[in-house]
Amino acid sequence: MSDNIESALHEDRHFPPPDDFVAKARLKPADAEALYKKADEDYEGFWCDLAREKISWKKEFSVGLDDSRAPHFAWFTDGVMNVSYNCIDRHLEQRGDKPAIIFEGESGDTRTYTYRDLYNEVGKLGNALRSMGVQKGDRVVIYMPMIAEAVIAMQACARIGAIHSVVFGGFSADALRDRLDNSGAKVMITADGGTRGGRVVSLKKNVDKALDISEGLVEKVIVCKRAGNDVDMKDDRDVWWHIATAEESNDCEPEWVEAEHPLFLLYTSGSTGKPKGIQHASAGYLLNAVITSEWVFDLHDDDIFWCTADVGWITGHTYVTYGPLSVGATQIVYEGVPTVPDAGRWWQMCQDHGVTVFYTAPTAIRALMKAGDELPSQYDLSKLRLLGTVGEPINPEAWMWYHEKIGGERCPIVDTWWQTETGANMIAPLPAVTTTTPGSCTRPLPGIIADVVNEEGESLGPDQGGLLVIKKPWPSMLRTVWQDDKRYKSTYWPKFDGKYYLAGDSARRDPDGNFWIMGRIDDVLNVSGHRLGTMEIESALVAHEAVAEAAVVGRPHDVKGESIVAFVILKSDRPTGAEADEMVKTLRNWVSDHIGPIAKPDDIRFADGLPKTRSGKIMRRLLRSIAKGEEITSDISTLENEGVVAQLQGKA
Ligand code: WT7
Repeated sequence: MSDNIESALHEDRHFPPPDDFVAKARLKPADAEALYKKADEDYEGFWCDLAREKISWKKEFSVGLDDSRAPHFAWFTDGVMNVSYNCIDRHLEQRGDKPAIIFEGESGDTRTYTYRDLYNEVGKLGNALRSMGVQKGDRVVIYMPMIAEAVIAMQACARIGAIHSVVFGGFSADALRDRLDNSGAKVMITADGGTRGGRVVSLKKNVDKALDISEGLVEKVIVCKRAGNDVDMKDDRDVWWHIATAEESNDCEPEWVEAEHPLFLLYTSGSTGKPKGIQHASAGYLLNAVITSEWVFDLHDDDIFWCTADVGWITGHTYVTYGPLSVGATQIVYEGVPTVPDAGRWWQMCQDHGVTVFYTAPTAIRALMKAGDELPSQYDLSKLRLLGTVGEPINPEAWMWYHEKIGGERCPIVDTWWQTETGANMIAPLPAVTTTTPGSCTRPLPGIIADVVNEEGESLGPDQGGLLVIKKPWPSMLRTVWQDDKRYKSTYWPKFDGKYYLAGDSARRDPDGNFWIMGRIDDVLNVSGHRLGTMEIESALVAHEAVAEAAVVGRPHDVKGESIVAFVILKSDRPTGAEADEMVKTLRNWVSDHIGPIAKPDDIRFADGLPKTRSGKIMRRLLRSIAKGEEITSDISTLENEGVVAQLQGKA
């Protein structure tokens, strides 16, 4: 960790909130002060007040935090509510004709759904799911393109108390199968295909493949017609969305569920083995989605919000499907990639739809920055008033570009730190309160007790790198790892007598108290803002018949954040020349097929063995240095097989 501290940049540019922003903001400095004070004096009361104010309850709760089964925490346990009701029905009277979703396809087709339209579409699909026998607590896997129907499908599950598990449409059939089987779903919702980068991704084909090899329970597949590509519909199992919903009523009585009822599972990578099904609860999750939409994104009734994340990630759950709708906002949903027809697409869309609040990832900002300043300067971006980032630390250069070229030097930037497990923004600026500094996610939000500690759990002083922890339970925290509660305890509560939530990130605080995230502490890569487990990629590689052993590490990459480097030992002799090139191609495609294109190694190197200590541990630190092309200065004489280092460096 000490290397990280030394390499930390010194940043002294500071951006206080602009006066005109402060004047109109939902949360002003005095409000924030009162919230921090309340959370400090009466933590449970702080959350209970918010839960009463922000959530529409069918039956009010009397219990705030139940910590009797720590590290399992439960909130508002005797309350009864429905998340979909909170996102749709409660707006109908005042905002029935207000656009909830403005959808744009990659090829330019658009469709607007008002809150009334959403009510109808969600109701019809909810009823169709019920007709198929889906009941409260049943799991439904959603594998869709980034289209409005994906949001509708999630809302329909929430409406009937079914637990959705969205699998990112970029994952392969194998990855889909793993997640499907682990969730025990009996119904899937998919589409024929979606368009990305001008090509049709045949989602339904992947579903067919996944179900062929699945050991699961899927009985029905609902298929939304989107791309118009050919699909095989299997009698009895597959049904078109438009046919399944044709005869159904718009009115679908919400399933009134207890606050702790599971809302969804979302699989995320860990350092070992298979992905973890992160399970969230209903009311607590919704509460943090609502308050962060108000506090961090400052959403007002006349805003046009656009979070570019896919619903396959947590950002798309909280800041597409739930947060913006729960506060009655209008938002953009876009199907495609940012570079079709050129890297000005997003800026054009911001102009054409009058986007006011825009939220994306540093990896996208860097990619679009590379395309030059010409493109954004061609569009009128003057409606933008607030910008956000998420997924990884943003490098100050990209922050400044975003600030100048996109935000016209007038928009505050909220750099939001959070995780699949935390459910919502945790450490982030309050745009009318916080002075920002490029590269820092600034301070914990009111009610979030974050700290940087050493291995003993002691708070560290300014500029000391340590472990990022959350010291008190918060409503939108994960509840468990699906089917693996042991892993929940060992991953998030292994230290400090199980008292603090361990985020798995290292961090430091600067003398102003701003947090700087330094990276993951486990072997998890952050590629384009998404966590990928090195283990998962290694297992995919060794599943190939020619591979004996593999080790995967990350290397800094100027657009993706990290890129994937794989060191591979074949069962046969080490290949060279054209044979090696051929094998590299084969293995890259193999990983793409097994996990998805996002996990494709950028670089694959062969050797006769991996560098191991005498006790047989792979020296990952050394592999990381080799991947970066660094001179090896550390003593490698304790290595069991010194000679392989030169091979892995490409020197032998
Ligand atoms: C990990 C969580 C939260 C949605 C996207 C990723 C890194 C996330 C930031 C940020 C520095 C960040 C952390 C975190 N991360 N946001 N603003 N600054 N690092 O969700 O896949 O659950 O990954 O992403 O390392 O632990 P995720």
